[in-house]
Amino acid sequence: MNVLVTGGAGYIGSHTVVELLEAGHQVIIVDDLSNAKVEVIGRIERITGKRPAFHQLDCGHKAGLRSVFQGDRVDAVIHFAGFKAVGESVKKPLQYYRNNLDSTLTLLEVMEEFGCKKLVFSSSATVYGPDNAHPYKESMPAIRSTSPYGWTKVMIERILTDYVTAHPEFCAVLLRYFNPIGAHDSGLLGDDPNGIPNNLMPYIARVAAGQLEKLTIFGGDYPTPDGTCLRDYLHVEDLAVGHLKALEYAGTHSGVEAVNLGTGNGISVLGLVHAFEKANGMALPYEIGPRRDGDLPAFWADASKAKELLGWEAVHTVDDMCRSAWKFAQMASK
Ligand code: UD1
Repeated sequence: MNVLVTGGAGYIGSHTVVELLEAGHQVIIVDDLSNAKVEVIGRIERITGKRPAFHQLDCGHKAGLRSVFQGDRVDAVIHFAGFKAVGESVKKPLQYYRNNLDSTLTLLEVMEEFGCKKLVFSSSATVYGPDNAHPYKESMPAIRSTSPYGWTKVMIERILTDYVTAHPEFCAVLLRYFNPIGAHDSGLLGDDPNGIPNNLMPYIARVAAGQLEKLTIFGGDYPTPDGTCLRDYLHVEDLAVGHLKALEYAGTHSGVEAVNLGTGNGISVLGLVHAFEKANGMALPYEIGPRRDGDLPAFWADASKAKELLGWEAVHTVDDMCRSAWKFAQMASK
């Protein structure tokens, strides 16, 4: 298939492009590089021996996107492009709504114009909001989030659901990720955010590399076994394979399906810190600080639908996640 990947130079996008190329698909990346580096394209080529087509373009730019569709037949789209920093979204809600919603609407309009009917969307477990019990199941209401970033995911899921109602021949797979961490086994691709990281693993990696002094664990008094928050961390390479499976599903189906991508297991912040120390043979300086606004004490996936519908399940261990994250961080800090 010819697959257009928006945001394909980013953290999850780049790992997915590698899986697609290795499975024999042709890939066209559209990325404005607002939170990704152009070197990623060359690294994808080093890993796979194949160079994806690349257009530096904001996918909310309709004329630009139309010319991409005019240049190459697009059989399916995987849509990652979007702003994703939770805290920043609280401070800049208009920027988040404008960017994330506009780019999706523009993409759908151009897909419709060119008769492209297969879409895999990068959603998030944040759509389950604060009201559902865990583990989260796809049958639960996913109608309330806790940040403008999260609300854009809820709204885009709604837009896609309404679009499929109007166009029943279209297929949209909404992949609800839990907490992706880790890096490509080669050490060439990984999570390398600009500035001080907001997410746990990139922060741990920078502390391990000596670029940040210590980790602050946000809250040690949650109602969990060790008092720190529980999350369902999954390896980004497993997540990338999940996109390939979703694409295969979309190739032969129509309608809208939401699917959790997680391991089904929760691990605490402190548990992950100790796993990183053990996997990489080092001690990480950390302190327990106050809770971070908006954090939920615990959530993890019911991952059974991904197995039944897509034939996907996570295979990497927490040890793999910690070792690969450190391998990449050492490369990125050079
Ligand atoms: C958040 C979003 C999720 C998004 C993901 C990646 C929500 C509810 N969740 O997940 O949708 O996909 O970011 O952008 O909006 N922690 C520390 N110290 C740190 C950093 C994090 O203790 O320096 C803790 C947090 O309190 C949390 C855990 O680590 O308990 C994971 O945090 P993080 O990696 O930021 O992901 P989430 O907040 O779970």
